[in-house]
Amino acid sequence: MSWKVPLTDVTLGEEEALAAAEVVRSGWLSQGERVAAFEADFAAMVGVPHAIAVSNCTVGLEVAYSAVGVGPGDEVVMPALTFVATANAARRLGATAVFADITSDDDLCVDPADLLAKVTAKTRAVVLVHYAGFAADVAAVRAGLAAMGRGDVAVVEDCAHAPAAGSRDGSGRCGALGDVAAFSFFSNKNMTTGEGGMLTTGSAEHDRALRLLRAHGMTTTTWDRHRGHAFTYDVVRVATNARMDEIRAAIGRIQLGRLAEANRRRGVARGWYLDALASAALPGLQVAFTEGRYGDGAQHLFVVLLPPRVERAAVMASMRAAGVQTSVHYPPTHRFAAYADVPAALPRTDAVADRLLTLPLGPAMGEAHVALVVDALARALGAVP
Ligand SMILES: Cc1ncc(COP(=O)(O)O)c(C=O)c1O
Repeated sequence: MSWKVPLTDVTLGEEEALAAAEVVRSGWLSQGERVAAFEADFAAMVGVPHAIAVSNCTVGLEVAYSAVGVGPGDEVVMPALTFVATANAARRLGATAVFADITSDDDLCVDPADLLAKVTAKTRAVVLVHYAGFAADVAAVRAGLAAMGRGDVAVVEDCAHAPAAGSRDGSGRCGALGDVAAFSFFSNKNMTTGEGGMLTTGSAEHDRALRLLRAHGMTTTTWDRHRGHAFTYDVVRVATNARMDEIRAAIGRIQLGRLAEANRRRGVARGWYLDALASAALPGLQVAFTEGRYGDGAQHLFVVLLPPRVERAAVMASMRAAGVQTSVHYPPTHRFAAYADVPAALPRTDAVADRLLTLPLGPAMGEAHVALVVDALARALGAVP
């Protein structure tokens, strides 16, 4: 299908192509100096001392949970309104995902009070997702855990939507707010390496664990041995292979250089949406993240809530016929068959779940694209003939 306005767009240029080709010509494709350089650049962007590149965010979350001690029988509290990877990563370690509600129909990030209320003696970690690129309230969760005397509970950030997003209170960037964070560089994200991800942490101890768990629990890497820095290794944890390769790291460094401008352009497009939707005055339509203070978001998604009881599939079909791609982020995890055994009372998530609609947003969008989307939405809702 060729869309007039696709859900998002990726800015990849000749620089990325050349960087990838240079790696191929170098003859060293697996984790090496470009991965190390990408890690250093990414750590500097987030404002943390440690960044650990991984093959994707899903396995990165698994590595992150494992590094903070999540294992069989533990509970990990997290929102249900997220991509299923947030929960699957915990399940795959033998832990139980416990779901917390969103804050409101404007603040679609997890509610700190509900998250904290679901912490039990079995809780090993809590996860905050910076949904749509808007920072979740990590500071409130940290303060709450401290007040409960539960400093042993790790705070993990799922930053898949939020590279370079700022916290609500302006104190730092997403990825520097909790104990460990996981980013995604999948193709539809704000910066991409095709598949890929990055973990960040301020803790040297977590950094050591993350590096071990990224690479089989081995004490040295192939790259160390290639450079003659080591001849042998021990295996001190049972772990997987979650490494990134040099081709992706080379592309990722270029993408990171484009990130600030791409996020700025996304923010401009959001502004056009807010103006166009205000003019269209569509009855019952709400734009998420407009009422509170959400910090300097990464503008990953532009999410609206359709008027109650409108048939979303029909709206999406009508917009599709007009050449506009839309999506739903997300069917909440507690509604999936694989999670039917998890008791979850999430009235606020359930109240918005069938109304959520993601409109196109990307750095190459112009004002005319936004006008076309809003017009298609207005027609789909019957606001114009
Ligand atoms: C919130 C969230 N967490 C985790 C992931 C998993 O990322 P990846 O595709 O890099 O494994 C995604 C990606 O879609 C996501 O949106």
